[in-house]
Amino acid sequence: MPKLAARTARAKPSAIMVIADKARQLKAAGHDVVNFSIGVPNFLPGAHVYAAVRDALEHDSGAYGSNRGSNELLDAFIGHLKSNGLEGYTRANVTVGIGAKQVLYNLCEALLDEGDAIAFPTPYWTSYVDIAEILDAKIKLLPCPPEQHYKLTPGQLDQALAEKPKVFLFNNPSNPTGMVYTREEIAALADVLAKHPDTWIICDDIYNRLVFDGIGYHNVVTFRPELRARTFIMDSLSKTYGMPGWRVGFVAGPEEGIQALVTLNSNHITSLPEVTAAAAVAALAGPQDVPDAKREEFSARRDEVLAALLAIPGVHCPRPQGAFYAFPDISVAFGKSHQGTRIDNDVDFCRALLETKFVATVPGSAFGEPRSLRISYTCPKAQLDKGLARIQEFFAELA
Ligand SMILES: Cc1ncc(COP(=O)(O)O)c(C=O)c1O
Repeated sequence: MPKLAARTARAKPSAIMVIADKARQLKAAGHDVVNFSIGVPNFLPGAHVYAAVRDALEHDSGAYGSNRGSNELLDAFIGHLKSNGLEGYTRANVTVGIGAKQVLYNLCEALLDEGDAIAFPTPYWTSYVDIAEILDAKIKLLPCPPEQHYKLTPGQLDQALAEKPKVFLFNNPSNPTGMVYTREEIAALADVLAKHPDTWIICDDIYNRLVFDGIGYHNVVTFRPELRARTFIMDSLSKTYGMPGWRVGFVAGPEEGIQALVTLNSNHITSLPEVTAAAAVAALAGPQDVPDAKREEFSARRDEVLAALLAIPGVHCPRPQGAFYAFPDISVAFGKSHQGTRIDNDVDFCRALLETKFVATVPGSAFGEPRSLRISYTCPKAQLDKGLARIQEFFAELA
């Protein structure tokens, strides 16, 4: 019997999907499940996006498209970058993918040989580890515990880059923590990055339009333009535009690196479907009232979630300022019992919370921080209220 390639043994199913599946099973069995587990925006794009899709269907050529992306789509993304203060990118500096996840996979394939090191802060988005492991890269984790608001310090970055990892991967705003780096913090990290020319930089900025409290979205290349020659900026329609299933991701970066991604696209995906590309152009270049309204709504939700969590004795939660996640430190529960079940760690906690209160959350260990858990707060308000009340109840019942 022939064997599967060794990399398949390193590929793990997403930990988040395992919880989501269990929640679905409980729901199917008739339980009133509140799902805080999956990072989906839970809204649909504006009517103009669907109108553009209907129009595209009328004119669909049915043909393969450009490996880089259609000119209209590339221009819409360049316009989007400009509106975020990222000027000077041309069509030669940008390309697309089937979601940011596939863009990231391509980037890692293009930048990392087997055994090369990739460094990134913990907590991290789960796929960073999964993709690096499939490609047999060496992972260097930079721990950013709740005590430092889950944020990387310039000193930590300096130390990590002294070892010359091939790639530094940085996520802002953050999934799972909701942290957003201020202008000053990004400027300080940019200064450090400029000192270490041997490392590629990937900025996973896909939540860039979901920033609260007026702190704004910032990227290292605006402070140190020389970083552009080795920085890739990822983006996506999934979270901001309520279009995760449409699978459109983007990346801007240096010409040669982007060309390598286009070549990978020619082998992996060929092109985005024409109709999908039309939806993406409409989302990026059309009215922004849906994403703008959602940012306001999520900011208000964040206030509600944070207030509920901080009302629980012993629970700490650094204030999320973007995306749609809260990442409380729940380690006060460890060593206690709930209805006779001992809670020793985050996985025990999440399991007991799901099985007794029917609230699905994701254990922090899935993101490299086992003291915490992730709450994705995009569900309808009534569900949110119910879920938060049940979490409070769960803590109150710990003995
Ligand atoms: C930080 C981060 N990067 C990338 C992605 C992938 O997004 P997409 O749906 O565009 O593949 C996600 C999705 O959860 C994410 O949270």
